[in-house]
Amino acid sequence: MPIDFHAKRNARTYVGREAHSSWTTAMTALVNPEGLDVVDVGCGGGIYSQQWARLGASSVVALDWSESILESARDAVGDDPRISFRIGTADATGLPDASCDLVFARALVHHLDDLAGFMREAARILRTGGWLIVQDRTMEDVAEPGSRTNPRGYFFEVHPQLLRVEQGRRPETQVVLGAMTGAGFNATDVFSLHET
Ligand SMILES: C[S@@+](CC[C@H](N)C(=O)[O-])C[C@H]1O[C@@H](n2cnc3c(N)ncnc32)[C@H](O)[C@@H]1O
Repeated sequence: MPIDFHAKRNARTYVGREAHSSWTTAMTALVNPEGLDVVDVGCGGGIYSQQWARLGASSVVALDWSESILESARDAVGDDPRISFRIGTADATGLPDASCDLVFARALVHHLDDLAGFMREAARILRTGGWLIVQDRTMEDVAEPGSRTNPRGYFFEVHPQLLRVEQGRRPETQVVLGAMTGAGFNATDVFSLHET
């Protein structure tokens, strides 16, 4: 059964940790966050919204469709004038056209019914020359064997039927790239990040 993002009992699912330094290294190799207006779509507990602000973004919109999750993000992030919180969906953010430099979406796309709708919305709110960064676990990642650094792998060894569930909801990289190019993005690049 998929997680109910709107249930109060799940509000704090995505708080309580920090972005790993491997994430920061990978992101800053892609873009210089200094002075950027960032939108973090499906921000969860705001871990990465906060990190974009720490890295020098001018503003970060932490956007999520769940009132309760957004509330937990507000609590966790505290008062930072650069970070604002907004209810919206991936395909209808309510943000103005050409209003940001970077759209970031971590662990979001495998939850979306309308991937193309999200890509179109990202293209709409981005300024010319802006970036869309989509970070998600692929099926290849999910199928990695269990180890000290990948305890989830043991879970799938014990319950192999869950791999089929994952297969059903995780779009292949080529599908994500196709949706991006369909929305007008170019210079699409793919790389692996084994974020701890
Ligand atoms: C797995 S969590 C990831 C949270 C955060 N990005 C992170 O990496 O820690 C997915 C988040 O996306 C949000 N979400 C799912 N579908 C969404 C949609 N269609 N529009 C906006 N937010 C959505 C959920 O409420 C949840 O907070």
